[in-house]
Amino acid sequence: MRRAAARDPHVPRRRGPDERPRPRRRRSRLGRQAVVYQVYPRSFADSDGDGLGDLPGITSRVPHLAALGVDAVWLSPFYPSALADGGYDVDDHRDVDPRIGTLAQFDDLVAALHAHGIRVVVDIVPNHSSDRHRWFREALAAGPGSPERARYVFRRGLGADGERPPSDWRAVFGGPAWEPVGDGDWYLHLFAPEQPDWNWDHPEVREDFLTTLRFWSDRGVDGFRIDVAHALTKDLSEPLPTQAELDAGTLVDGRHPYEDRDAVHEVYRAWRAVFEEYDPPRTAVAEAWVPAHRRARYASPEGLGQAFNFDLLMDDPDAGQFRRTVEENLALARESGTSSTWVLSNHDVVRHATRYALPAGTDLQAWLLRGGTDPAPDVERGLRLARAATALVLALPGSTYLYQGEELGLPEVADLDAADLQDPTWVRSQGTEKGRDGCRVPLPWSASGPALGFGDGSPHLPQPAWFADYAVERQEGEATSTLALYRRAIALRARLQSPETLEWADDVPAGVVQFRRPGGWTSVTNLGTSPVPLPAGRVVLSSGPQTEDQLALLTELPGETTAWLVTPST
Ligand code: GLC
Repeated sequence: MRRAAARDPHVPRRRGPDERPRPRRRRSRLGRQAVVYQVYPRSFADSDGDGLGDLPGITSRVPHLAALGVDAVWLSPFYPSALADGGYDVDDHRDVDPRIGTLAQFDDLVAALHAHGIRVVVDIVPNHSSDRHRWFREALAAGPGSPERARYVFRRGLGADGERPPSDWRAVFGGPAWEPVGDGDWYLHLFAPEQPDWNWDHPEVREDFLTTLRFWSDRGVDGFRIDVAHALTKDLSEPLPTQAELDAGTLVDGRHPYEDRDAVHEVYRAWRAVFEEYDPPRTAVAEAWVPAHRRARYASPEGLGQAFNFDLLMDDPDAGQFRRTVEENLALARESGTSSTWVLSNHDVVRHATRYALPAGTDLQAWLLRGGTDPAPDVERGLRLARAATALVLALPGSTYLYQGEELGLPEVADLDAADLQDPTWVRSQGTEKGRDGCRVPLPWSASGPALGFGDGSPHLPQPAWFADYAVERQEGEATSTLALYRRAIALRARLQSPETLEWADDVPAGVVQFRRPGGWTSVTNLGTSPVPLPAGRVVLSSGPQTEDQLALLTELPGETTAWLVTPST
């Protein structure tokens, strides 16, 4: 039953087939310069005490998201799943995992977010399903050469009885990328064995995803985050290259057998047609791990419209690196007519408050394996730099994606016990990579009580005692908290927002990144450790001294701090 469509006035309707397109009322605010907040549902809030976050939990925390002032919420997968890869192994793309809620509760969440003017983005996982998906189970049962197997990438093994894999390819999480099914056939899984890759040459696969996009759009979803958007279409013609040939990095610009092939854009053109069936049109953002010069294809207005740019996420907190990354990405966005995106943290990487607490060049996976003690993180410096980087990013033209918990300044939990780890990376890499669980530990809402307010049960990943220091409750009403900084910055950004351009200040001290947006909004970041003079203007925000009184007294910019200033013309 489509309760949302009946009840929620914010749910835009779909055009009938005979209806002529009406003039656009407005593009969704998601389009170009939004602040999008990523919720990892299993770790956000647990309403029923089973230790897993759920949809009613998120609904109960909508006031937190509204007070933060975000434009949209992106929900990582909440679909039925065995959680072999944290929900990115999807059994059924048009349902809700019973442990997480129901479709009716999804509608309630959409209505609650829409009531606050917050848009809803859901994750679409089109490269693979789970091995529990109905079509994959049918494929296994139907046997070699069957039409059922044609929906996935099955291939005869090498050797007389197909006993050897079709190639020596490695999966992203470690181990072989081909899995035998016992009858001489092997299937391809670029990720875990529980995530068989779809065959995107198959019309039924293409059609099924169009159905999924309409299913969620009809329920009021405003946009989609497209998982592994660069890998769907494949050219597996013989002879398959070896892993060494793939690793050589020469198969680029569309010549790799499964990464960033040009044909993938036909898929997204068809998706675009679906997005345009709606008013306002649905939006999308591609998770495409491709070189910067290939990103615009994914972000094109005929395609998904936006693509994540992970370049900042890989930079050190260094003025030269930050500026180069921003310049390069703004130039690319300009050339292609798209807007830029900025990401410092997400559910796949070590949180930025921790990355910046470590010496530049630290091998993060090796550091996690050592339990996060060697080298010892400088937690205060990490937080200072994280706040400075976030304030810089929020002043940039384009959309900013925030990850749950970063508004609390949460560090990574680096010392999870091996027995608690869930990320398939841990097992698949045979214990040589710990994986991503440290950024997925359930949020601390209160400073005491069961699971620090996450829920009454024991959380699916244990929270360390020090999480209490970062609790929302503790930061609420605390004028110098990281939460207060995020709220103030996001509110100011909405007020100061201007066309998507900036002008660099070149005559600045070493270690300083300074630019001015149209309308007299200047952002200056001092990544050095000594104070520098402030440029002209009234300081309206600083990632260091934060209260009105402190801002009024600020005569210079402390080290590892960002300030925003406005000039009278604003
Ligand atoms: C994306 C997701 C990641 C997942 C992978 C496979 O990179 O962000 O969490 O493991 O795709 O679906």
